[in-house]
Amino acid sequence: MSKRTISGRTVVITGAASGIGRALAQRLSAHSCPVAIADVDERGLKETEVSLHGPALAKVLDVRDADAQHAFAAEVREWAPQPIGAVFNNAGVAVASSVLDAVPEDDNWLWDINFHGVVNGTRAFLPILVEQDEGAIVNTSSVFGLAGMPNQSAYCSAKFAVRGFTDSLRQELRGTGVTAINVHPGGIDTNIVRNARFRKDPEGRGRTHEQMVQEFAAITLTKPDKAAAIIHRGVEQGKARILVGPDAYVFDILTRLTPTHYYDVMSRFEAWLRRRGPAPSRAGADAGARR
Ligand SMILES: NC(=O)c1ccc[n+]([C@@H]2O[C@H](COP(=O)([O-])OP(=O)(O)OC[C@H]3O[C@@H](n4cnc5c(N)ncnc54)[C@H](O)[C@@H]3O)[C@@H](O)[C@H]2O)c1
Repeated sequence: MSKRTISGRTVVITGAASGIGRALAQRLSAHSCPVAIADVDERGLKETEVSLHGPALAKVLDVRDADAQHAFAAEVREWAPQPIGAVFNNAGVAVASSVLDAVPEDDNWLWDINFHGVVNGTRAFLPILVEQDEGAIVNTSSVFGLAGMPNQSAYCSAKFAVRGFTDSLRQELRGTGVTAINVHPGGIDTNIVRNARFRKDPEGRGRTHEQMVQEFAAITLTKPDKAAAIIHRGVEQGKARILVGPDAYVFDILTRLTPTHYYDVMSRFEAWLRRRGPAPSRAGADAGARR
């Protein structure tokens, strides 16, 4: 692992209007990084922008739009007061459905954002990093990019694809000053479930969307600012793969120990987390996350 410094360098973050992306923007701005942030959510993006203390460039952008990503990269190149230290392709969405009941439109929406959005961002910014011979492409996969989970086929396939794409890129970049890093968060207390597409309870328990939001909020183990700190540290430590939160380590160990039967154990772990209910600090949280 070769260490790299991103504090003080320019950083680019997609999905910065909420959750992990916002927390990363706030943390890195506080570590003297000029921050270029993008999101489809104009209002949330503005809220993030005003919460930053250093130089910031905010762009309303849909990561599915490759041309818009290239235009953003050109704008950042002009604006950046410092070389780009890292590009966080973080924007993402969720869908909960069995394969049997899948609505193709929902799965395509997710694949376009969670995989093609990451590819678009990588293609747009990689030439700048290669020219600098410095910097990291940091792509957000998930623990669901380590393990296949029921009712998450679209999400898991996109996150496995991000992992494969990023690992391939990292091998291509061997011997250069540029690298590609996978981030695998466990459950993080963000708006991802609130923003998810959900037609009916895939587990057949009759839960409403709001109940699923509350249920997931109760089992998340990590807050976005903690996630941002782990990701920031992981990039600077030179990690190729950053596991975020204690549950991410459980996923990692189980998928290595038992590559085909991990869900036997994980389903019990999840049931235990649900029974345990929300920790006092999380009770009443209005946002949950289902990766
Ligand atoms: N929260 C978790 O438990 C968890 C776990 C593993 C991985 N992740 C991943 O972390 C990343 C961040 O998610 P989060 O948990 O902070 O969720 P979030 O919903 O709080 O934030 C996601 C952000 O992405 C933005 N976004 C969605 N579609 C977009 C598009 N087409 N173009 C630009 N921006 C778009 C949203 O507007 C939102 O601001 C995602 O890739 C998600 O899959 C989250």
